[in-house]
Amino acid sequence: PSAKNWDGTPLYFYKGVWYPVFGIRGALSFQQHFIARDTDIILASMPKSGTTWLKALAFSVVNRNIYSPTETPLLTTIPHDLVRFFEVDLYSKNQLPDLEQLPSPRIFSSHTHYESLPPSIRGSSCKIVYICRNPLDQLVSYFHFARKFKRENVKPLTSIDEGFDNICRGIQSYGPFWESVLGYWKASLERPDKVLFLKYEDLKEDITFNLKKLAEFLGLPFSEKEEKEGVIQEIAELCSFDNLKDLQVNRTGFFKSAPNSSFFRKAKVGGWCNDLTPSMAERFLKIVEEKLAGSGLSFKVSE
Ligand code: A3P
Repeated sequence: PSAKNWDGTPLYFYKGVWYPVFGIRGALSFQQHFIARDTDIILASMPKSGTTWLKALAFSVVNRNIYSPTETPLLTTIPHDLVRFFEVDLYSKNQLPDLEQLPSPRIFSSHTHYESLPPSIRGSSCKIVYICRNPLDQLVSYFHFARKFKRENVKPLTSIDEGFDNICRGIQSYGPFWESVLGYWKASLERPDKVLFLKYEDLKEDITFNLKKLAEFLGLPFSEKEEKEGVIQEIAELCSFDNLKDLQVNRTGFFKSAPNSSFFRKAKVGGWCNDLTPSMAERFLKIVEEKLAGSGLSFKVSE
């Protein structure tokens, strides 16, 4: 181990990426063994960037003709059990997962950087949707998430200052932040038919527009009839923070060491200002801006 994450777990640096100890075996096994189908949909992100939300949205868009809003498994199941992570879930077991029997389109999710994706994902016609979030809300969200974990022999950091120098050096699970976002950002510019780049803040601002964009990108545009019948609004409401939070608040499941509710906290744009001092925010933003210079990518850090 070369460093520690906010939740106290050791991080390993491998080929430019910081992996949490509980995710490295799965990450490498995924990179080595996963064979993509042309019809696959991969949802990619840095942790705490809106992954849970994107999973619910993509699952709903893809399955809208199979499940009615009163029957959808989203009413009883956390999105992470419907759209499973490669690294900390599917490929983290002793045996390789049998993904062949899954019907198309299969939807998976990943925190792996674009450059480290298995060759068959980049080489096939499968689609990738990346969601990013402004770096200040992402890091504050991670800090609160990390504090929910209870693991034997692991002592989470107690204050946000304790891990902050590491964050400024890019040291966090699946970091550096800027490497993750830049890889997918550039790929989305080079191959817009393959990679859709979404921002959490944009989804908060206009979910209808972004749901249409997502559905079109996936080759499943909403028909005029669906629009008139309010299907888009139905999906937006089903996947809204308040609704998903209410459904999950008393459930345990996805992570043994933390309740499902740890994926639902405040969901605010600019909420970071309750936890970071202005000088911490300025320091980190300056670093991120320097790293992203010339890329054309920028973030909205307040509402
Ligand atoms: P906060 O900690 O700022 O509240 P991830 O899903 O990638 O783990 O990200 C978790 C963050 O997304 C948390 O942010 C969580 O509250 C927020 N979130 C979860 N579900 C959401 C939803 N349906 N809509 C908007 N934000 C959501």
